[in-house]
Amino acid sequence: MITSDILADSHKYIMNTYSRQPIVLVKGRGTKVYDSDGREYVDFVSGVAVCNLGHCHPRVVVALQKQAQRLMHVSNHFHNEPQINLAKALVTGSFADKVFFCNSGTEAVEAAIKLARRYAREVLKQDRFEIITMRGAFHGRTYGSLSATAQEKFHKGFEPIVPGFRYVPFNDIGAIEGALNGHTCAVLVEPIQGEGGVIVPSPLYLKELRALCDKNNILLMLDEIQTGLGRTGRLYGYEHAGILPDVMMLAKGLGGGMPIGALLATDKVSQAFTPGTHGSTFGGNPLACAAAIASIEALLEDNIIIPNVAQLGTYFLQGLGKLKQKYSFVRDVRGQGLLIGMELDVPGKDIVSACLRDGLLINCTMDTVLRFMPPLIISEEEIDLLIEALDRIFAKR
Ligand SMILES: Cc1ncc(COP(=O)(O)O)c(C=O)c1O
Repeated sequence: MITSDILADSHKYIMNTYSRQPIVLVKGRGTKVYDSDGREYVDFVSGVAVCNLGHCHPRVVVALQKQAQRLMHVSNHFHNEPQINLAKALVTGSFADKVFFCNSGTEAVEAAIKLARRYAREVLKQDRFEIITMRGAFHGRTYGSLSATAQEKFHKGFEPIVPGFRYVPFNDIGAIEGALNGHTCAVLVEPIQGEGGVIVPSPLYLKELRALCDKNNILLMLDEIQTGLGRTGRLYGYEHAGILPDVMMLAKGLGGGMPIGALLATDKVSQAFTPGTHGSTFGGNPLACAAAIASIEALLEDNIIIPNVAQLGTYFLQGLGKLKQKYSFVRDVRGQGLLIGMELDVPGKDIVSACLRDGLLINCTMDTVLRFMPPLIISEEEIDLLIEALDRIFAKR
């Protein structure tokens, strides 16, 4: 089938919820993907911070092949070993004692919202249900996570949203303090706002937030769906701040490309969930869990990938910094590890298209922020390719 026909079918049969680039991707290896016309692209999107190990990592592929031949699905009416092994691996490598599995980021956030409310009511025996979230945050598209997402543009036309969320400015401890009241049960925050434009808070923000939550006996819930699994140069974003959350949400990079989400929590908080209080048919599916175990093992056993992320991020920021000096419409470059943003005075859409024509996949968020989140195995040479292309594209503006 020729590409124009595939695209025509896509428009005809798929609901119109995305503004997609006009290419059909058919293959991926490492940092590269290939379209239906055989063109190669260096991928600075990674399926939106999903393919942290690159595309089709051999360990993940083999794990999937083996598991697919053995057992693909059983439901949570029974135990399955990949799910247990994955939970063990996640607990061993984090603050958490227990894990609940689901299939996406938004479901992990839904689970966190439910856990926080139930913890307050059933464990603390207090009528607390309100969750403080940050302006500019993004937590997902289902009703709970959408309501936690303090950006009205995502709510438009879908009201009424779920009550019980209070929005405050990001990176402002005083604002959280001011919003606390007798009904607050938790604060939900991303260590770095990803979709919100790659906003990195001050280094003390999470530490002060931890102290505030402790003082008021409320839960600190970190949405690490975008920042987790090595993206920022540590396995989890909270490690930079030297704190431990009570609850954490993961998805994206967890499955090495397979859809999976997870809610992690301490024993104390996890006890709020009892049989029948929450669930998912596919959550913790053996196939997705086998991929996630292979992906985590590949990430942790390789002592190059995560340690290299900080250095690659600095290199990347330096290259973008030079473009900022050269072009007055570049307002800011920022980020941590390989979650990087370049804010422009102008919409970024045309630049994304121009990069695509040059064989480079990039993303734009909040209209004016070019966002770069390549596989963590990206090379300096590939980063140079992107900087050179941006320089050429910017020069023509
Ligand atoms: C921080 C954060 N939370 C939640 C989500 C929602 O994840 P999903 O699209 O898997 O539902 C996203 C997706 O971009 C995200 O970046």
